[in-house]
Amino acid sequence: MIPKDIFARIERLRKEINRHNHLYYVEARPEISDFEFDAMLSDLEALEKKYPELKDSSSPTQRVGSDISKGFQQVKHRYPMLSLANTYSFDEVQDFHNRIAKSLSQPWQYVCELKYDGTAIGLTYKNGKLLRAVTRGDGVQGDDVTANVKTIRSIPLTLNGNDFPEEFEIRGEIFLPHAVFDEINQKRNEQGETPFANPRNAAAGTLKQLNPKIVAERKLDCLLYFMLGDSLPYDNHYQNLLKAKDWGFKVPDNIELCKTVEEITNFVDLWDKARRKLPYDTDGVVIKVNSYQQQNQLGYTAKTPRWAIAYKYKAEQVSTTLLSVDYQVGRTGAITPVANLEPVLLAGTTVKRASLHNADQMAILDLHIGDTVFVEKGGEIIPKIVGVDASLRAANSSAFEYITHCPECGTQLIRPDGEAKHYCPNQAGCPPQLKGRVIHFISRKAMDIDGLGEETVDLLFSKGLIKDMADLYDLTYEQLIDLDRFADKSVKNAIASIKQSTKMPFHKVLFGLGIRYVGETTARKLAMHFGLLEKLKEATFEQLIEVDEVGERIAQSIVTFFSDPKNIELIKRLEKAGLTLESESTEGNAATGVFRGQSVVISGTFNRISRDELKELVMQHGGKNTSSVSASTNLLIAGDKMGPAKLDKATKLGVKIISEDDFFELIKQPNT
Ligand code: IVH
Repeated sequence: MIPKDIFARIERLRKEINRHNHLYYVEARPEISDFEFDAMLSDLEALEKKYPELKDSSSPTQRVGSDISKGFQQVKHRYPMLSLANTYSFDEVQDFHNRIAKSLSQPWQYVCELKYDGTAIGLTYKNGKLLRAVTRGDGVQGDDVTANVKTIRSIPLTLNGNDFPEEFEIRGEIFLPHAVFDEINQKRNEQGETPFANPRNAAAGTLKQLNPKIVAERKLDCLLYFMLGDSLPYDNHYQNLLKAKDWGFKVPDNIELCKTVEEITNFVDLWDKARRKLPYDTDGVVIKVNSYQQQNQLGYTAKTPRWAIAYKYKAEQVSTTLLSVDYQVGRTGAITPVANLEPVLLAGTTVKRASLHNADQMAILDLHIGDTVFVEKGGEIIPKIVGVDASLRAANSSAFEYITHCPECGTQLIRPDGEAKHYCPNQAGCPPQLKGRVIHFISRKAMDIDGLGEETVDLLFSKGLIKDMADLYDLTYEQLIDLDRFADKSVKNAIASIKQSTKMPFHKVLFGLGIRYVGETTARKLAMHFGLLEKLKEATFEQLIEVDEVGERIAQSIVTFFSDPKNIELIKRLEKAGLTLESESTEGNAATGVFRGQSVVISGTFNRISRDELKELVMQHGGKNTSSVSASTNLLIAGDKMGPAKLDKATKLGVKIISEDDFFELIKQPNT
């Protein structure tokens, strides 16, 4: 029997969480802290777990994504997903306007909106709940990506109000905000993965991820621009879009009603500049006839509506001369060709270099020395060469041939199967790889040796004082004080921060080693799983792929790393220097079982490890994690910023409360 008030409580929580979700993700004006939000969500999770019969696929708890991966089902669009006719000039906008004037006898209005540069989605709602999310596909049918779309916080799972049609479809653009895109690419770079070319590709790729958990981490967003259905509240696009906003959809404010071509061109001009300040990419303006009745009168061609047009902004492009190509060698040995250009002004900055990505890219462009090339700034961080004016090419100019040997150490390059990049395999002797590894090792996310910087590492290499990271621990005051850049204080600071780094936890050391494809998260998982470097070193490929998030590529890379005697030697020296090569949590011992048979609640935020890792440790040591405090709770591990209600309840019920530090003390003790 479900107690009477439970249903109401669950409903209330869902409503509140939805409201705060909307405040945070759609309106960007949160009213509560993340912590309070999480607390509400975990209360709801607990209730839904306890009363599974009250589960609901539209509940905000369903946004986290499940791990079940399956292919996508193809779904036929109820209304075909058309595209828009493009134009690049105001003359063509005038033509569009003239055509409409010929067909319509009554006055009409346009709605001007920005053209969001992402990937299209059609969302169907039934009785105010998200039923289905389908990609454009071929316009007739697309992929059902509902599970992935549910992880997008700005898309309401249930609608506000009660004046929505029983069933309708709303279409929009899924995109990645710039900040999230940069974050993802930084991570991909760190892990030696090819970064996404631009936010649009990243968004489209993410939406097609088979694992919704990964989608949830990628923080996609969605702007809505089009509604379809039999009984929409208004007879025009503009008012329906505003209504959609009331229901909870993210509809941008920069939408304008216009009557004349002049008003349209003003909108286009205004946003050509202003759009650069938006946190997402836009590539034009969409101009739509507002009234549905007039839209129907104008009708459709096979592919596009006659009542709308897209004015596309030209990506800013300039031409300049290609002077030479440099080949950069990264810390993993990956080679990146970079073009040196005759300096030229583009979108407000002087461009001297452009990325060429890899050998294939260069071959496609068929670049010759001295070529006149077109450079463009797209969504990418570094400008790219998009084309060559071959007509201006000197008859005797020669094509660039991709290098066969490392420009730094002369070793013959390799290109692994299935990879676009070439690599220098001389990990042990190639200077930029050696330096790059030390720079990675001292970086903030690894050993955080802030008394040294990139330039100092360069200097230490050039003076022959270091050859690898282990050498850092042998540096002396006398050696450093002799160097140009150092004075008494900075030497002491450097030595102290090197010494301090020996206290860094095992997973940071592991990340710092710079094993290809082992990023921060993987390093944490590996440290947690194996507990000891000794064990990780001995792990077989099969044992490695059992670890959460470790696939074949990572496993192979780890095996290769530890099969190199030079790396084993390096680790020995790091151990001698006193670095932490085992996880603090298990101290290398088997789990203690201190929590055997106990029901443990974890609440708040923690300093040493994440909440998930803490949960894992509780399990490893025999405990059972539960999310809400009840009479059957044995232990509460209280982190920072814990909700007062939970603490209060635990105190009243006499539940034992311990801190993060207490927890680590407990799991140190041998099993009794
Ligand atoms: S309306 C029938 N409005 O551009 C008209 N589309 O080239 C349906 N897009 O498939 C589209 N911003 O992916 C519309 N404000 C906007 C848009 C927009 C971006 C995309 C959308 C569409 C493509 C058409």
